[in-house]
Formats: sequence, C-alpha cells, structure tokens
Amino acid sequence: MVTANRNRVVIVGTGQVGSTAAFSIVTHGLCNELVLIDHFAPKALGEARDLDDGSEFQDRHVKVRVGDYADCKDADIVVITVGRKPPANSNRMAELGFTVGLVGDVVDQVMASGFNGVIVMVSNPVDVMAWYAWKRSGLPRTQVLGTGTALDTSRLKTIIGEETGLDPRNVGGFVMGEHGNSQFAAWSTVSLGGKPFAKFLADNQSRFSSVSTAEVEEKTRRRGDDIVKAKGGTNFGIASTVAGIVQTILWDERRIVPVSTLLDGEYGEHDVFLGVPTELRANGANEIVELDLTDDELAKLHRSAEIVREHCEGLL
Ligand code: LAC
Repeated sequence: MVTANRNRVVIVGTGQVGSTAAFSIVTHGLCNELVLIDHFAPKALGEARDLDDGSEFQDRHVKVRVGDYADCKDADIVVITVGRKPPANSNRMAELGFTVGLVGDVVDQVMASGFNGVIVMVSNPVDVMAWYAWKRSGLPRTQVLGTGTALDTSRLKTIIGEETGLDPRNVGGFVMGEHGNSQFAAWSTVSLGGKPFAKFLADNQSRFSSVSTAEVEEKTRRRGDDIVKAKGGTNFGIASTVAGIVQTILWDERRIVPVSTLLDGEYGEHDVFLGVPTELRANGANEIVELDLTDDELAKLHRSAEIVREHCEGLL
C-alpha cells in the first residue's frame, strides 16, 4: 500500500547523481531511512557510511545504509539513477542504448521484491525511461514518474533571475515537453511578479532591454550540456530536483511540478511520458494541469511527443 509515513526511500545507482540526491535527502531530513543500492556494492557502502557520518550535525538523523532489492518491498519511493556520465556535445537520447538494459534489470528486481510505491526515474533519456519503467513494472500510471522538465523549469527561473537581477523564485511558469533538445519554455505561462513575462519586460524597457526571451530559452535548453562541458556531468541541480519531488510525494504536499508523466488524452496525446505540470501526492503523479497553451506551444509539445514516442518504439 502507498502510505505517507515518511518511512523509506531507496536510491538505485550511487554515482554523482544518486549520491548527491542522497545527500540532499539527508540534509533535508526527508525520511527515516535511506537505502542505497549499486551494482558495485562497495561504492554504495562507502557512500552510505560517509553520509551517515554527518548525523551529529544534521537536523535529524536519516538512517542511511547499503541494501539490496529486497529492501524495496516496503519502500515508499525508489529513485532510479543508473547510467553513465554523459559525453559532452551529446544529447540525452544518445544514452538510450546504454541505459535501457540497466533500467530494465533494475525495474525487474524492484518489482520482484513486491514493491508497490512510487518509482522516480532520473536516468536519461528520462521520458523514454519513465515510459519503459511504467510498461515493464505494470504499476499504475500514478506510481511511475520521471524528473521531466522540473529541472529545466528551475533552470529557466534561475536564468531569468540572472538576466534581470531578481530572485528566481519571483518567476512562475513552466518548461514543458521532452527533458532534451525539443523542450520548450511555455512563455504563455511564464510570469514575473505576477505579470506575464513579455509584458514585464515591455513595461520595464529601461531596465530590461537587453533581456531576450529567445536567448533565455536557448540558455535553458543548453544549460545541462554547458555544465557537462565545464565539469564532466551535472549533479547538484538534478539532486535538488529529486529531493524536491521526493519531499512533495512523501509529505503529500500536493505541489504542482512539471514531472514526466503519462499523457492519457491530456493535450491530445496518448501513451507517452512528457514533462507537464502535475499534482504530486503521496501516491505519486495525479492530475495533470491542462494549460491553455498557444497553438505554437501545443505544436512544440506534439513534436516532443513524436520524438519521445519514436525512441520508445521497439523497447518492449
Ligand atoms: C541535466 C541532466 C539530469 O539536465 O539531464 O542536468
């Protein structure tokens, strides 16, 4: 049964992304127990001990330990981060051939434990992997979701903050679609201080004449790859995103987050996972918010759907 008892989270994959997500979960004290699984068990053991060693100085003690798939049985959430460091100048879809076998194996083992919680997919290409995990697990649609465009949305807000000198948390709205090159900023939803973003810029020409929406969108799209080029991978942004999603689900906060979720008629799409604003509850991804997108935005969403669907073909 899915519960909101804030009990156990399992992270599969303790590379940069998995171990940083673990650190974020620990520093926020999100659950009672955090279990780490890695195919290279000594790595998971080392990370678990290192994370637990700071307990004296954490707000509360999250028990971190190394585990195996049997620990998924009573877990509320399993976060899947398996994969490899992405090469620079690549795109996330190029990871498919490498990741799909790993994810299939992980999902089978998680399900064999009797798991009936929520899978949070992080492995790239995340929309394809979330769909694949949903199909392969047989779990209800609510119980499988990907990080989607939650990180891209945070990046958009951060970049608008950089360009305007204002706090990114003043920005509302969403990046939607594929967590990849076909993502788009749904500008009709983006606001700053409660004003539509374009109007905010137009009304403050003297301050913001140098800010261009096209540039902001392009920087957002490229941000992941820019970071990969600079430091060989991304971990902090995605880890914060994972911790935010885990908190929202475990604490039944009902935040609306653009996770990757199954479209089943919403936005005129079927059988595809894409980043769309979704109400997260203790049982995972619930209602999708169907925004009044412009025709141009809707066309971009359909384009993302086509690309993701093409890559799902033949995986089962
Ligand atoms: C990124 C990875 C998680 O965008 O795809 O940072």
